[in-house]
Amino acid sequence: MATMQAGYDSAGKDTMHGLAYVALQELATRISHRNTGRHSNDPVADRIMVRISTDENLHMVFYRDMLDAALRLRPSQAVMAIADEIMCFEMPGAGMPEFQRKAVAIAKAGIYDLRIHHDDVVWPLLKHWRFFDVGGLSDQAEQRREQCAQYLDGLDALARRYEEKRAVRAAREAAAHT
Ligand SMILES: [Fe+2]
Repeated sequence: MATMQAGYDSAGKDTMHGLAYVALQELATRISHRNTGRHSNDPVADRIMVRISTDENLHMVFYRDMLDAALRLRPSQAVMAIADEIMCFEMPGAGMPEFQRKAVAIAKAGIYDLRIHHDDVVWPLLKHWRFFDVGGLSDQAEQRREQCAQYLDGLDALARRYEEKRAVRAAREAAAHT
């Protein structure tokens, strides 16, 4: 409740950064709300979460399409905003008490983790925008896009490490139960 009352502050993002952030965040919530419903093992909660995630999808499409237009009108500015927001992405709940502990529990349950973030949120949007094919960029925007590519490689490697750890843990637990 305290988190809801405190609200969310975009920390002075300009419009382009705000659009890039919400495009990512709406897709992230579409997926995590849908998975939360599945994880609930409660048919009513599941239906509620399906309904909410359907709305989240509409929000995502709106912001994603705004960025489509921005990439045509102001390619350098839009590319830099997308790259910046990918490289510093945090869910709106990141400021809530014990968020880290909760994020680990959410990842362990398969509701939202780095693999989902990389494969199902960031890359589908980048492919939709043909982010790495956008031409006519300033040197600064080219550089930022290159930094973003390196960041994505790191994110993929980190997601793989977590997956390997999870597989080891699952194998250990399975062995303990035989
Ligand atoms: Fe939304």
